[in-house]
Amino acid sequence: MRTPPHIVILAAGKGTRMMSALPKVLFPVLFRPMIHHVLDLAGAIPHASLCLVVGHGEALVRQACRGYGDILYCPQKEQLGTGHAVRMTEPFLGGREGTVLVLCGDVILTRPDSLTAMLQCHEAEAAVCTVGTAVLPEPFGYGRILSSGGRVAGIREEKDCSQEERAIREVNSGIYCFDVKALFTALSLLTNANKQGEYYLTDTVRLLAEGGGRVARFRFYEPEEMAGINDHEALAKTESVLRTRFNRTLMKGGVSLQDPATTYIDTRCRIEAGARIEAGCTLIDSAVSAGVVIEAGSRIASSTLGAGVHVKQGSYIEESIVAQNCTVGPYARLRPKTDLGPGCRIGNFVETKNSVFAAGAKAAHLSYIGDADVGRDVNIGCGFITCNYDGGPVKHRTVIEDEAFIGSDSQAVAPVRIGAGSYVATGTTITDDVPSEALAISRGRQVTKPGYAKKYRKDAKPKP
Ligand code: UD1
Ligand code: CA
Repeated sequence: MRTPPHIVILAAGKGTRMMSALPKVLFPVLFRPMIHHVLDLAGAIPHASLCLVVGHGEALVRQACRGYGDILYCPQKEQLGTGHAVRMTEPFLGGREGTVLVLCGDVILTRPDSLTAMLQCHEAEAAVCTVGTAVLPEPFGYGRILSSGGRVAGIREEKDCSQEERAIREVNSGIYCFDVKALFTALSLLTNANKQGEYYLTDTVRLLAEGGGRVARFRFYEPEEMAGINDHEALAKTESVLRTRFNRTLMKGGVSLQDPATTYIDTRCRIEAGARIEAGCTLIDSAVSAGVVIEAGSRIASSTLGAGVHVKQGSYIEESIVAQNCTVGPYARLRPKTDLGPGCRIGNFVETKNSVFAAGAKAAHLSYIGDADVGRDVNIGCGFITCNYDGGPVKHRTVIEDEAFIGSDSQAVAPVRIGAGSYVATGTTITDDVPSEALAISRGRQVTKPGYAKKYRKDAKPKP
């Protein structure tokens, strides 16, 4: 390609068929707003300038796209059709030279390679317009491609089709390349004399062909690449295709998936060869190293799992770092800002939050550990609780130094420090700092009354 193209993404529509207040392009597809997938696609074309036509839910859409660099927003106040939408880019593109690639905010399965090939085809044919098409066994809902002498002569929206036109199986993908100048000339000639009373972008194709311009077609190799998301059924289908594709890529790259059909992995995840993921797991925006095993029904979000980590069944890990060779679960919950050092063990029904565990620390059963610094090789018994919140404005920290031993059913009332190598006896409520190497114990002494039970039972008998 000689000069990089301009890219226009149409994302102002309401998405009426979604029947929701949420703008259609913000519906999540594999854990990310639909529009992000299209922005990534645009990002695969190097050096292109990018216009995003926004309208319905503009503020929300802009906010969702904040993480993407240089986007020129083109507001479309009233959604008068796709042709009208492209006209909104005139302040940026009017008078420019070169090619504009038009993408739709609701078509996300297109492969970057196909777009590159389409741009090359447009250039090679010296076309004023190249329409992305596919032949579908069931063309329902799409604009039909009208041909004349083997060339594209126009596009007819389904609602405006005659009986014969409806039988055409070659459909419009909604993805086009245009010569910028020719496009704006054609847009200025559009009318809304059609069933929907809209200014159709599709009519520019007919206008350009009638004007003697060369209109080319680019057939998508896989028809799924052009599937539009107009309703919830299409949304679910699209997610399934994207998921299957990514799972396949992972498996080709050496990741073992027990049951890809029930495995949901966000395309942002980086998973090394040699990791194994059992059925029914969800992984979102996470990094997983070689040798990791994630057992069935676990959810990992915005987290990093080091080499050899073993996540046992039904665990939930979010915004956490788990270093190499840790064991987590079964049924553990690592909440945000949990940082486990190498070889830690977090066992069943343990919840952690905003806590740092040094290498080899263990909490194997039924605990809540929040806002804590847990030292190296600390052993936390069953049922320990950090009492980090007193109802005030801040949470308080518990510090447990290296090699301390915390007996079962204990609590630490923060802020408090438990010294290195100290022992906290079972059933203790720690309210004061414990020096290193000390034993802390706070529980009532046991009183044993021989024979008392027998007497109690007799006295407690109901009167006849
Ligand atoms: C459109 C095409 C149809 C094609 C199909 C492919 C037209 C008239 N029809 O139909 O030929 O087969 O895509 O998926 O172009 N939008 C705006 N402003 C508007 C209207 C729409 O920005 O005023 C945006 C929408 O947000 C959406 C895109 O344009 O991202 C397509 O609009 P949509 O209403 O989904 O068009 P389709 O009926 O699918
Ligand atoms: Ca559509």
